Amino acid sequence: MFDRGMKYTWLALLLGCGPTVLAQSMAQEDLLNQAQTLASDFQKNLKGALTQAMASGGPVSAIDVCKLDAPAIADELSSEGWVVARTALRVRNPANAADDWERSKMEQMQRQLDAGKTPAELIVAEVRNTGDGKVFSYMQPIMTAKLCLTCHGSQLAPPVAEALATHYPDDQATGFSEGELRGAFSFAKALPVE
Ligand code: HEC
Repeated sequence: MFDRGMKYTWLALLLGCGPTVLAQSMAQEDLLNQAQTLASDFQKNLKGALTQAMASGGPVSAIDVCKLDAPAIADELSSEGWVVARTALRVRNPANAADDWERSKMEQMQRQLDAGKTPAELIVAEVRNTGDGKVFSYMQPIMTAKLCLTCHGSQLAPPVAEALATHYPDDQATGFSEGELRGAFSFAKALPVE
């Protein structure tokens, strides 16, 4: 069996790539794996906290999970140079607003979904040149499940709507149906200077 290093050596030989390109593609595959692990941990931790809070205290008290626990989970996962965040085209918290690049990627995700692609096919992983040097950027779509509609759907219970209006006067994140693109995980890690 080929291990991954072997696989890349053969690939690089086949493609006639030098050792730099080989090292870069291996490093990028590692980064992609790390980002995918972060996304599944984020999703699992948040969903767990949300489901528990909804069951024990109801949706109004669960709003605190999204308000306080979501950023705390993101901070906790932001280790080893990763910046971990959630964003959307329509945000509830303006602090989660997308930058131009994230916005264009989510618009692209929406177009691809409209064209029949599955969420798993929409993952974005790119090395970008930013003003601060090279960055590995990763985005993964977040779809609405039934559970999410309690706070992001089109018919919110009056106490939920009231609590959201108090915390988030500029809320744009309602009116969703199940299975829609709600937003995306957006992670970035600065790459070492070559
Ligand atoms: C109990 C209410 C509640 C439920 C249920 C809920 N959310 Fe949220 N959601 C919120 C709140 C409150 C925020 C704002 C968090 C903050 O202040 O960062 C938020 C923010 C978000 C954001 C970040 C972007 C933004 O709009 O600020 C995403 C993405 C998101 N929710 C997706 C989901 C998904 C997917 C589900 C279902 C798995 C879900 N939410 C379930 C209340 C909820």
